[in-house]
Amino acid sequence: MIDLVSQEYKKLVFKSFVQIGALTLSVEEFIDIVFPNFANEIESEILKIAESLQIADVWVNIKNIIDANEFEHPLMIALYKNELLREIIGPEYSFIDRYPKVYDRIFREILPYLIEKFNTNKENADDSTYLSIGLIGASYGQELITILKYLFPYLSKTENSEKTALNIDVLNKPNIIFDKLKNNNLIYPKTVISKYMSPEELQFYFRELDSEYLYFSDLIFKQIRFINLNLLDKNNLEEFEAKKYNLIFLHNVIQYLEPKKGEDLNFICQFLDSILYEGGIISIINESKVINSHITNSFEHLYKLSGLYSEEKVCKASIYKKNYY
Ligand SMILES: C[S@@+](CC[C@H](N)C(=O)[O-])C[C@H]1O[C@@H](n2cnc3c(N)ncnc32)[C@H](O)[C@@H]1O
Repeated sequence: MIDLVSQEYKKLVFKSFVQIGALTLSVEEFIDIVFPNFANEIESEILKIAESLQIADVWVNIKNIIDANEFEHPLMIALYKNELLREIIGPEYSFIDRYPKVYDRIFREILPYLIEKFNTNKENADDSTYLSIGLIGASYGQELITILKYLFPYLSKTENSEKTALNIDVLNKPNIIFDKLKNNNLIYPKTVISKYMSPEELQFYFRELDSEYLYFSDLIFKQIRFINLNLLDKNNLEEFEAKKYNLIFLHNVIQYLEPKKGEDLNFICQFLDSILYEGGIISIINESKVINSHITNSFEHLYKLSGLYSEEKVCKASIYKKNYY
């Protein structure tokens, strides 16, 4: 079945579809990133669904059905159930500089402190060990872009002697998005990136694909390791051979961890504790105060009184230091 509507129209329809499940979240920027990266896959799934339901002009139909709030329509039900659509949207929702207050605290206060401490503890001036940052839960790279923006003063120094030796690991369960991120196959609209980055930062971290889109520069791939890590897979956790981290970001991952029946998730707290250096910092955000809140509670218990920051207004955001005393 041939569909003659434009890509812009398809993107608009896709956005209306995502907005239904996103409640009050703003999805504009998210769709600006998701749609160009998966346009072909989305199109092919939607055409397959249209064919199975014998629906012509499927894009126009979806739009009309959404506008009429007919959420029980067989086409809508088939879209909700579609595996690819489920995989690339809901649990991957993110945007750049999502938690300015938390990032501000980490990059303006905590990181300088960690670096100073790290440098004073080094045995030799030319000690080549790195201060390690672990980012768990990458989505389409929005939080990585945020972190890179804040790290620009450290990473952009040209003189080796002035550079802070930083190692960044991005960890995520294997999925089609992380696969693209790892292989530098994700593209980002210039309009989105330039809202957050200065021209110098943009030029440092990105290359132009064409007049509209950017992709990460090779430099990023020298500085960053992308590692598969499924927090729910005990074997994966046992075999995890990454270095330990001085700073771990675990933002909006906890609520997506569905334990097996009868299983508690304490093994995840133990794992996180095991990959954090003594004196290291972990920032945990769980936008749902209900789902898996016991993981955050276990951390509170484990790192008793070591909270450096806590915010409960929009979500539960906490920063802890391992072995405060
Ligand atoms: C909502 S996004 C959060 C992205 C970003 N950290 C942020 O705060 O905006 C959730 C991320 O967690 C990842 N994730 C979900 N379950 C996971 C698991 N069991 N192990 C590792 N990562 C997981 C998803 O693939 C996705 O990248």
